[in-house]
Amino acid sequence: MSDPRILGLCGALRGGSANRKLLLEAARLFGPCRFEEGDLRLPLFDEDDEIADGIPVAVQTLADQIAAADAVLISTPEYNKAPPGVLKNALDWVSRTKSSPWRDKPVAVMSAAAGRAGGERSQSILRLCMVPFQPRILQGPEVHIANCRNEFDDNGRLKSDRYAATVETLMGRLREEITR
Ligand SMILES: Cc1cc2nc3c(=O)[nH]c(=O)nc-3n(C[C@H](O)[C@H](O)[C@H](O)COP(=O)(O)O)c2cc1C
Repeated sequence: MSDPRILGLCGALRGGSANRKLLLEAARLFGPCRFEEGDLRLPLFDEDDEIADGIPVAVQTLADQIAAADAVLISTPEYNKAPPGVLKNALDWVSRTKSSPWRDKPVAVMSAAAGRAGGERSQSILRLCMVPFQPRILQGPEVHIANCRNEFDDNGRLKSDRYAATVETLMGRLREEITR
């Protein structure tokens, strides 16, 4: 079997995002895989635009990437104790496409945030937001990277062995889920 296709979705758009570093670390700790990141710079959902113009190309591309992936990794920041609008907007747009790309898809959700709880509440809310789409979201181990702006070295590696071990365990579970 060829290396699994893993799609990463980062809830932060900024270049130096800790959540993007976490996605890349997770992909590295997953082991051999074909990793790509989905682009969440989508227009804001507007039903008038949808009626007038249909599904935007960028949304269809994202839905196709989800459908084609063997598994999806999501890393979310916490904005005011909730997931960023970027992620919810993407979920809402993808829900309007004809396929149901999330159905039965193995998914690992993580969070990284500056606060002490590592985006725990944001991650919980995101998990609830995904219930309608019926993916196979791993229940654990839970990855919440606290104080996230100080947890990655200059090469983007997690400094803490404990965090790295938890991410590696989660990736092992994801690998098992793909082959289940
Ligand atoms: C609008 C906004 C709201 C935020 N709210 C929270 C919060 O509720 N909890 C928290 O731990 N950090 C909060 N932060 C700080 C983020 O955790 C921090 O900016 C983090 O680095 C964002 O993730 P990123 O590095 O992937 O961009 C907030 C940041 C922004 C911009």
